[in-house]
Amino acid sequence: MKTKWTFFAIALIMALCGCSDGGSPVYRDASAPVEKRVKDLLGRMTLEEKIMQLNQYTLGRNTVENNLGEAVRDIPAGIGSLIYFGDDAVLRNAMQKKAMEESRLGIPILFGHDVIHGYRTIFPIPLAQACSWNPDLVRRGCAAAACEAAACGVDWTFSPMVDVARDPRWGRVMEGYGEDVHTNAVFCEAAVKGYQGDDLSAENTIAACLKHYAGYGASEAGRDYVPTEISDQTLWDTYLPPFEAGVKAGAATLMSAFHNISGTPATANRYILTEVLKEKWGHDGFVVSDWDAVRQLILQGMAEDGKEAAMLAFTAGVEMDMVDDLYTKWLPELIEEGLVDMKQVDDAVSRVLRIKFRLGLFERPYAEELPESSIYLQPSSVGLAERMAVESMVLLKNEGGVLPLENVGRIALIGPLADSKEDMLGNWTARGRAGDVVSIAEGLAAEFAGKARIRVVKGCDFDGDDRSGFADAVSAAANSDVAVLCLGHKGKWSGENCSRSTIEIPSIQEELLAAVKSAGKPVVLAVSAGRPVDLHRIEPLADAIMLIWHPGIRGGNALASLLSGRENPSGKLAMTFPYSTGQIPIYYNRRNSGRRGTQGIYKDIRSTPLYEFGYGLSYTEFEYGELCLTAEDGSGRSCDMVSGENEVMKVPAGGKITAEITVKNTGGRDGYETVHWYICDPYSRITRPVRELKHFEKRMVSSGEEETFIFEIDPLRDLGFVDSAGKRYVDKGTYRIMAGGRVAELEII
Ligand code: NOJ
Repeated sequence: MKTKWTFFAIALIMALCGCSDGGSPVYRDASAPVEKRVKDLLGRMTLEEKIMQLNQYTLGRNTVENNLGEAVRDIPAGIGSLIYFGDDAVLRNAMQKKAMEESRLGIPILFGHDVIHGYRTIFPIPLAQACSWNPDLVRRGCAAAACEAAACGVDWTFSPMVDVARDPRWGRVMEGYGEDVHTNAVFCEAAVKGYQGDDLSAENTIAACLKHYAGYGASEAGRDYVPTEISDQTLWDTYLPPFEAGVKAGAATLMSAFHNISGTPATANRYILTEVLKEKWGHDGFVVSDWDAVRQLILQGMAEDGKEAAMLAFTAGVEMDMVDDLYTKWLPELIEEGLVDMKQVDDAVSRVLRIKFRLGLFERPYAEELPESSIYLQPSSVGLAERMAVESMVLLKNEGGVLPLENVGRIALIGPLADSKEDMLGNWTARGRAGDVVSIAEGLAAEFAGKARIRVVKGCDFDGDDRSGFADAVSAAANSDVAVLCLGHKGKWSGENCSRSTIEIPSIQEELLAAVKSAGKPVVLAVSAGRPVDLHRIEPLADAIMLIWHPGIRGGNALASLLSGRENPSGKLAMTFPYSTGQIPIYYNRRNSGRRGTQGIYKDIRSTPLYEFGYGLSYTEFEYGELCLTAEDGSGRSCDMVSGENEVMKVPAGGKITAEITVKNTGGRDGYETVHWYICDPYSRITRPVRELKHFEKRMVSSGEEETFIFEIDPLRDLGFVDSAGKRYVDKGTYRIMAGGRVAELEII
């Protein structure tokens, strides 16, 4: 009896003091549910400790060891998060040790880093990745990046960027998945699943951060950080869906954007940060501001001072302040004055702690200190980088079948990119190093070893007016069977704060091309850039054009394998290539105008793009068969629209429809084909775009064989639309389903 009472008394004391068996607090108990741990820890924290969790400090990019040593001493042990800390696990662990041992409750720091297209193994830029139309490959690439980053003590990446972007003057188009809503949503989900895996607490996974929430891609005139005009309808139609997909996929965090949305900066936008994200979508992670963006509310003309900026951002729903230190400074006073509610502070801190618990940081605060050689550039990651580069390159032109280069004995490899390693990486390269890159010259040398002699001539720089190398380039071309010209933009010409007023390739390179062309040999262009570029003057001079973007560390091998024909190109554009800068913004899913066709067009240039969204050639040919729709309940079927002869299938809004199309490979090579499925709602109470991508699938089709591609249509999801309040409808009436130039109709009754 006595024992029973003693046990009861101990249990009662432990419950009252929040201890689990063995006397250690519940928040330290890995087997306790996360929510219980969060509550327990929160209950033990002082206001000051809570506020520290809502801050992210930086040690800058300074990786000089001595300086870092200093900074470790300066950073408070109770800080919530650090960005850009250290190069390796040793330094990171030193800071973490301070947090674990010197902060009162031993709360681990969350270490964030911009892992955008790889950590040390650099993959093609995200815009290129989208052109692969292979979400599984992208998922695996993000998983490989997470693995390298996690091993160096990174817990959290500021990726993926899912800003739908339609202005290639904006440098940040390189960081996202292009102009289309559905494409961004699909790759967003793939990236989140890649970084976070099935288990966020696993050693090789890191937390994702969807950015920049929301509508940052609408930047006016392609300039960074500037205000945007976004109607509620467009916000819901275009900018929010990829974020919703990422939240559904389980993204741990989001980053609010820098820009002003029609009068309310994203950093202080309660509607998107709280009403939509938390109340409507139920996101239970946290939002971090962009760099110094809380303070920028002053410059944007919303907050009078730092105190008001902190209040506006925090009450709108930004839980963590990235680097400007305004939360630490002002939240205590704001709470005391009743301008910030303590309940919201507790909710914000809970959100941050929740992610730390989910990441397993309390159990595994330190990164294992492994040798670099066992972390970086593992063969599987490098193989993935090459595969992704192969699949993301887009063949834009191939006149007379000049490619692949099957019987050439002498290749003149010309241009500023021919032997440049740095520019193959692009921007946002984390720990990437130019020395890891296989250049185009190296890739071709390996691929054509014993088959062709390669002469490498730079010809000119990316810009400037030094033409002294032209003569050499022309003579190399004249003495070869083919000239491969590697032109385009430098790797750092796109990315943050890299807007350009024109998307042209500098004229010196165009002149080089014209000079080389005069040698009379076939000219193959390899175009590298981090944005769509204006090729309209260049295109007529080239026999073939391969768009290689910034293809990452194995870009040289990837291009060489495509040029030799060992691989067959399968990339297709995820962003329209305008004819010239003057057409911007130009994208495929515009609404119809009231004067379609011959009016409202440019008088001086064509009004159609040079290469449209979804465009990309292969070395083989694909023929699309009839497109047929079948109602799930067997009540109807309708096939290609042939001048109104066919009966249109009628389906209730709650029904399901299967769309099918057969694609035959009629050429002589095996090849991957991506079928893009579009819908069109020609008459709607809120007018819809001329076509909207709703599904895509990439599959290998062997030469002479055919494959049936299927799109399972859920009318509300795929044919419906959202109104300006985010409510989804499906209207009655006619819809068109389109793939590969084929169209079938159905009627929703
Ligand atoms: C500013 C950029 O806008 C954002 O994308 C990035 O993640 C942060 N800086 C941190 O580097």
